[in-house]
Amino acid sequence: MIQFEKVSKKYRGMQEDVVKDISFTIPSGEIVVLIGPSGCGKTTCLKMINRIIRLTSGKILIDGKDIMEQDPIKLRRNMGYVIQQTGLFPHMTVKENIEVIPRLEKKDQHEIDERTEKLMKMVGLDADQFLDRYPTQLSGGQLQRVGVARAFATDPDIILMDEPFSALDPITRSQLQDELLFLQSKLKKTIVFVTHDMDEAVKIADRICIINGGRIVQYDTPEEIMKHPANEYVADFVGKNRIWSNPEYIRAEDIMLPDPLAVPQTLSAIHAIEQMREKHVTSAMVLDDDSRFLGYVRAVDIQRSPDKTVPVSDLMKEAKVIAAPEDDLVKLLDLINTNEVQALPVVNRWGRLEGLITNSSLVTTMSRQYIDTEKEVSA
Ligand SMILES: Nc1ncnc2c1ncn2[C@@H]1O[C@H](COP(=O)(O)OP(=O)(O)OP(=O)(O)O)[C@@H](O)[C@H]1O
Ligand SMILES: [Mg+2]
Repeated sequence: MIQFEKVSKKYRGMQEDVVKDISFTIPSGEIVVLIGPSGCGKTTCLKMINRIIRLTSGKILIDGKDIMEQDPIKLRRNMGYVIQQTGLFPHMTVKENIEVIPRLEKKDQHEIDERTEKLMKMVGLDADQFLDRYPTQLSGGQLQRVGVARAFATDPDIILMDEPFSALDPITRSQLQDELLFLQSKLKKTIVFVTHDMDEAVKIADRICIINGGRIVQYDTPEEIMKHPANEYVADFVGKNRIWSNPEYIRAEDIMLPDPLAVPQTLSAIHAIEQMREKHVTSAMVLDDDSRFLGYVRAVDIQRSPDKTVPVSDLMKEAKVIAAPEDDLVKLLDLINTNEVQALPVVNRWGRLEGLITNSSLVTTMSRQYIDTEKEVSA
């Protein structure tokens, strides 16, 4: 866990603080992305963590210990650091570059060799082919892979990454993002990752910290930031339609009709159909005595019934499928299509009805993205 407590930074000879009274916590085992416009203070924040840059005021704690009270060399050995130009030594081979620090630490060479091979495999490079090459003999993507391998070489708890993939073409970049996520799923490091790119942030982050002018504007999960941007600045920065390229963040509870007509199972059919008429709907959800969801009753079935004084439970149908509030759009569309249903009751884990998704509510939701785009264009 890395804690920033009221951290400020003023560079010598400068008028203003470039980092202004920042407080936030980076939980262990998570990827936290720092994002914001050029010059907002991202790199400064990162370099204060490994003490390459000194804080002007405030504190940074790692697992509760103030970094200023630790030996900076030891502190840095527990932190991998990857920068955009990889920072590989040009006169050393790939193998030598990866092993610099483990060798300084006088680890057993046999163990080092094994770990290097393993790391090469994890970052998707063939050891036989690449270990003896020099950095100039590698492509940009291969260099970044070596940079990542080197950051993991000492098995540190913390990895700091400053725009590590930004100079790469989109395909290589996307591959490296996937590899980082794969590595992280196995190794569970605490990763602080700086980027300019919101797509990258949304893809890899457990939490995103949006910085502007040296201050935190919002610190939250990608989902929360997309759904509830703290202000106009964040909304603009994130882009209104970004959520649509991440449908796994759109959930049943976001798009359901929250107040569908629901009647107790003991209500007579004639009363149920009256309520449907009032509300201009053609069916009603049926609840048990504890207000738990049981099924639904359709107006046509009541009309066909010779006896309309019977309780709705006699005419009720069971729902073929139901959705949970946290089910995402991809799953909802799949449920509707494979089961060929017109509507999906949204039922929480205690059996309570929370809402209803109908085909038409889905169409409305899905068309909203186009309407928003049009507004943006005409604005
Ligand atoms: N050594 C320095 N001395 C004086 N000012 C500095 C120094 N390093 C950075 N700055 C200034 O501090 C501010 C924050 O810089 P920083 O490098 O942290 O920004 P950044 O968010 O990483 O930007 P970028 O996205 O362009 O990398 C900038 O205005 C920069 O000019
Ligand atoms: Mg920077």
